Amino acid sequence: MNKLSAQDRSKLLAQFAGVANNKNSTLGVGAVKVKKSCNFKDFLLYKKIQAHSKVAEQMGIPNPFMQCHGGMAKAHTNIEGVDYINFATYDYLGLNGDKRINDAAFMQMEQYGTSCGSSRLVAGERPVHRALEQAIADHYGTESALCFVSGHATNVTVISTLFNRDDLILYDRLSHNSILLGAKDSGATILAFKHNDIQSLRELLIEQRGKYNNCLIVTEGVFSMDGDIPDLPALVALKKEFDAFLMIDEAHSLGVIGNTGRGICEYYNIPTQDVDIIMGTLSKTLCACGGYVAGKKELIEMLEYYAPGFVYSVGLSPALAGASLKAMELLHSEPERVQKLQANCLYAKNKAKELGLDIGSASATAVLPVIIGSSLKATILSNLLFQHGILALPIIFPVVEEAKARIRFFLSASHTSSDIDRALEIVKELLPEVAKYEAQFTKTE
Ligand SMILES: Cc1ncc(COP(=O)(O)O)c(C=O)c1O
Repeated sequence: MNKLSAQDRSKLLAQFAGVANNKNSTLGVGAVKVKKSCNFKDFLLYKKIQAHSKVAEQMGIPNPFMQCHGGMAKAHTNIEGVDYINFATYDYLGLNGDKRINDAAFMQMEQYGTSCGSSRLVAGERPVHRALEQAIADHYGTESALCFVSGHATNVTVISTLFNRDDLILYDRLSHNSILLGAKDSGATILAFKHNDIQSLRELLIEQRGKYNNCLIVTEGVFSMDGDIPDLPALVALKKEFDAFLMIDEAHSLGVIGNTGRGICEYYNIPTQDVDIIMGTLSKTLCACGGYVAGKKELIEMLEYYAPGFVYSVGLSPALAGASLKAMELLHSEPERVQKLQANCLYAKNKAKELGLDIGSASATAVLPVIIGSSLKATILSNLLFQHGILALPIIFPVVEEAKARIRFFLSASHTSSDIDRALEIVKELLPEVAKYEAQFTKTE
């Protein structure tokens, strides 16, 4: 490390911190005006990747992303023969790999193969699709539900199908990328309200609501980067006052919050009918891959016939639908899993606070951020944790603000309190080393 001059180092750091994340910038890879060409190497995106790799290489930080695991996505994992306590996987209820879920998937596979072969509208429909959707509708007490092949695509296709340029979409500033893409793709006017700030939303509604036909307010049940929970009662009151639709993304709240893991409505004891569009994913608590929407019959019928991500995409693999159906069953029949997860969430939150770690606005949820303060420091810390047998990945700019770069811990019902103690205590111990490392790299000679 430190093979570069001080000037080069600060240039690299500026890039790392995203200062050069300007569309017109060539990111210091030479003052070349990007020409029209047919070479992927000229793409700004490619240059960004190169710039990041260069910084990491100069600092001797291995790339923490895209590592190949040797085992199941569970609270403990194995990478290249080494065991790690895993805080980078959302196996919230510790159900991934459960024999009953594997058997359920296998049964579907034996009967229907690995693919249902076409869009469900055409010839892809199998009984397990409807069974899963019924289970999701029952879980929420809604009239109906519909599943899609990807959680990300669910948000994109649902929002962009339902709303158009005559409409207004108000989204929490920290909403997931898929929400934002769906909103942009709809053609509606889209405005962000401040994170979890009801007053900011109210002001936008007062100013803007009257100018549009439909209005959608969209937010998350538990925020994927911050682990906090929005004020649902206040959102419901606003939606009613201003005649708006309310959509909640339950990706990180299903199985996690509410006494029996039913999500944000149960957490606040609010009828699910007060949320017009309940969206969620099959990839977390439900151990598979895909997304769902639950709500009124008319909503689901419109999506079945008009959402491109449903109409023009293959149906969910029967094996995955079978796995999620079984996971949903186990979520209800083994409530001790939810209780254990919730106990772990509370334990981890308290432990982090006791150690004086900065967890931002996190509630006791399965997403625990430890804010480190720069992308560089978060990456260094993640790397050091890895060397200590702990897998927890950095969340860096531009995914979060540079000053709020963090390590994100996903908690599972399968973690033990000593897993949590060990991870957070090591974070605390390593912080001075991270600061030293950073200072060494940033020193001006
Ligand atoms: C809030 C939120 N919504 C949607 C998604 C997309 O879900 P999936 O990864 O299942 O496609 C994610 C991904 O983690 C998410 O965090």
